[in-house]
Amino acid sequence: MEVLDHLINSYGRFKRLLIKPCGGIKGEVSVSGAKNSALPLLAASLLVEDLTLENFPFLLDTLYALKILKLLGKEVELFPDRKRVRIYGGITSTKVPLELASLFRGSILFLGGLLGAVGKAIVPPPGGCPIGSRPIDQHLKFAEHLGADVDFENGYISVNLKAPASRGDFSFDLITVTGTENALLTLVGIEGEHTLRNVALEPEVLDLVNFLREVGINVETYGRTMKIEVPPKGKLKRRLTYRVIPDRIEAGTFLVLGGLLGEPLRVKNLNVDNLGAVIEKLTLSGVRVNVLSPSEVEVFRGETLRGIDIETAPYPGFPTDMQAQFMAMLSVARGNSVIVERIFENRFKHAFELQKMGANIAVKGNTALIEGVESLKGAKVKATDLRASASLVIAGLIARGETVIENIGHLLRGYEDMDKKLQGLGCEVVLL
Ligand code: EPZ
Repeated sequence: MEVLDHLINSYGRFKRLLIKPCGGIKGEVSVSGAKNSALPLLAASLLVEDLTLENFPFLLDTLYALKILKLLGKEVELFPDRKRVRIYGGITSTKVPLELASLFRGSILFLGGLLGAVGKAIVPPPGGCPIGSRPIDQHLKFAEHLGADVDFENGYISVNLKAPASRGDFSFDLITVTGTENALLTLVGIEGEHTLRNVALEPEVLDLVNFLREVGINVETYGRTMKIEVPPKGKLKRRLTYRVIPDRIEAGTFLVLGGLLGEPLRVKNLNVDNLGAVIEKLTLSGVRVNVLSPSEVEVFRGETLRGIDIETAPYPGFPTDMQAQFMAMLSVARGNSVIVERIFENRFKHAFELQKMGANIAVKGNTALIEGVESLKGAKVKATDLRASASLVIAGLIARGETVIENIGHLLRGYEDMDKKLQGLGCEVVLL
């Protein structure tokens, strides 16, 4: 069996995670490359002849994306030990298979990658975490704005850019991360000047922007407006090596863990600048975060954690992808906390699992009210989505008694070697 399938099978075979209580963590952990940067960069590999990605996170979502690239005709070489992947060669198909696309949300990025590379794409609606309806109307509206034909056939969306496509002077109705990334990827194929307004400015979007600059595309940002200047195809770089930025959500997950158990916990290979809102909320809650350098911090457990209020928002606001992990922490903070989820309409499923562990949480619409309890108790719980699974891991480590998290595939979709990293810190966790 080839390496890619072997890796997918080796992660995919685990069903649950067993967690034993952990009294404290003293040690250091290194953050992997960002999943949500790697995915648009993998889609961008369709735009060049030969791309090597360094600091590449080997986890299920990125492995699924590599498998899609192979089915689209690209050659893929994996170097897991060096955290490196090489994608090269031409495109032989423009159809993204349903079985793979339905496994993760990031598959929608192949729409932009294919449109930018060859002007047409057949993609299924994406899968991913069940955290709301997650429409892609903005992605399709942008393609239509460029003059593309958009058709729905047999469960697939077929998009054809008619040549010559009109200019991409477009304003998004709402801020969308992958929508902005898809627009950027598509525009690579259309020579000239374009303007995108009301764009997402998440660090992962800006990582794609940096990559496009390396390729030879001029991108300027003014607030939430981006001006993009695409030179003739012949002037673009065709072979390059690019380093994926550190995963700010994985980093944030370890910071929360450090806030509960750090004696202290040192977190390395992160980018402090991308973690402003997370560090601010940790500090408000009574956690001491000591910034040692732009890429390294140490976190000391908060002796008396206080309840705080959180409202998720597009970057630079508090990330929706950190809300679940904070909920686990605030479950044992002194006093009350309020979390308002403003990005996704159904992202509180972890609250009901945390309740099984003794947390006192009331959910009303997009608001969760948390009344801190003395401690959590181990239980059999179920991971309902990726970040929910991270919150349950945190809860399991601070709980009294054993915890078993079912449906652990969600964690393996988005965290590289989480079990090994925790074991390296002395935690007793076992994938089963
Ligand atoms: C990205 O999802 C991330 N995924 C998510 O990470 C993250 O939670 C989210 O951005 C917000 O930061 C990837 O990067 C692969 P959106 P995305 O489009 O792009 C609505 C994780 O845990 N919307 O910014 O799908 C949408 O329903 C995951 O790693 C439309 O209405 O999110 C949501 O309410 C989960 N129409 C809001 O916008 C559209 O066409 C923001 O979604 C597009 C989005």
